[in-house]
Amino acid sequence: MQTVVIQGPSTIKGQINISGSKNASLPIMISTLLAEGNCFINNIPNLRDTRFLVSILKDLGCRVDFQKNTFVVKSSAIKKKSADYEYVRQMRASIVILGPAISKYKKFKIALPGGCSIGTRAIDLHLDALTKMGIKISIKNGYVIAERKKNNLNSINHKFPKISVGATQNILMAATLADGISKLKNCAIEPEVVDLINFLNKCGANIKVKNRTITIKGVDELNLEDYKVIPDRIEAGSYILATMATKGRLRLNNFNPNDLTFPLKIYQDMGLKIKKISQSSYEFNCKRLKPLKKISTREFPGYPTDLQAQLIASQLKSAQKSKVIENIFENRFIHIPELRRFGANLSIIGKTVTINKTLNLFGAEVMATDIRASFSLIIAAMMSKGTTVINRIYHLDRGYEDFDLKLKKCGVNISRKK
Ligand code: EPZ
Repeated sequence: MQTVVIQGPSTIKGQINISGSKNASLPIMISTLLAEGNCFINNIPNLRDTRFLVSILKDLGCRVDFQKNTFVVKSSAIKKKSADYEYVRQMRASIVILGPAISKYKKFKIALPGGCSIGTRAIDLHLDALTKMGIKISIKNGYVIAERKKNNLNSINHKFPKISVGATQNILMAATLADGISKLKNCAIEPEVVDLINFLNKCGANIKVKNRTITIKGVDELNLEDYKVIPDRIEAGSYILATMATKGRLRLNNFNPNDLTFPLKIYQDMGLKIKKISQSSYEFNCKRLKPLKKISTREFPGYPTDLQAQLIASQLKSAQKSKVIENIFENRFIHIPELRRFGANLSIIGKTVTINKTLNLFGAEVMATDIRASFSLIIAAMMSKGTTVINRIYHLDRGYEDFDLKLKKCGVNISRKK
């Protein structure tokens, strides 16, 4: 099992090119199932998850390829109408295959995604809306079996009882080929959802977004067009927090600050200085990191849950009864016991973590537990004296392209060990 070893204390001084967004790439790659023809989708990060999704699409019978950072679609027609457990259990995001697949084919089955370290990862919001679109849903032997009799899905007027990125993506994709006009309310509007909509509209869909309402006018068919995926705002935010925590100086290239407006305001209140170099290059530094008062994770445009663990780590040596409240996932504090191994002073009551300043942190052997938690361990290791060994780094490889090479180039003492 691969590990990563970091010698602390260590800081970031240099440049990092931000990769394409994992969470925009996955639904966009899946959405090609809806369309005819072929295309090149560029700026796809070469990650465990994107490579894995290519293998799922190939298993379904699609003629696709993944060269460096380009996803090549020769034909998105599927032969096999089932996404199997061995795949789905390893990447919950694959549940959004269901919407496009049942919209194109009259029967499709997909393994229940099951829970994971950050929560139950329910799919009730997906299934309830698909049922309203005229799909017969049954659950058998750990699979969701979806069937429809009619030629096309019904368009629907639907208000999601809870905001969900995946459910919004699944249903808007299913509605692109439905009969008539669908109006979806209380939708997720993360930049990754908007990027999916922009790709589908380029392929001939008719989708409009107004506040949290998405209106989709069903079309007869979609035709694939080339596309470039947006930069990864969560990767960018992770490196910015690592720079703040270690008083470094970082220049990010291929970065769009408009996707992180609220977090950057919070970070500037904590002492971050930002300098614009060009349209997509920005320099960040932080001479004195001030204590965070209190932050709650919210759906976009609020503070992202995917930057919660990294924010906690960055505050370990400057907090003063700082509070972080996790409102999106019911179990997203698995990194707290691992951060305590460095000597961090953290307490959890319900959905709230309270961070108290620790003057000295010391390297430790720790275990990555999910993609974003594992980056918080990197930040803590860089703030600590001595050697840190991070186990199960496949979690990092799922979400951070070449993270060790990018950090090493910025002077961080990090190496990957077999
Ligand atoms: C997406 O997951 C992201 N993953 C997550 O990023 C991100 O943390 C999450 O959105 C929230 O922003 C991808 O885009 C691949 P949700 P998703 O449906 O769609 C509950 C990462 O590290 N819910 O918005 O699965 C759910 O349990 C990953 O890159 C239901 O109750 O998240 C959660 O509490 C981690 N029923 C909340 O809604 C449902 O049917 C938000 O989940 C669906 C969701």
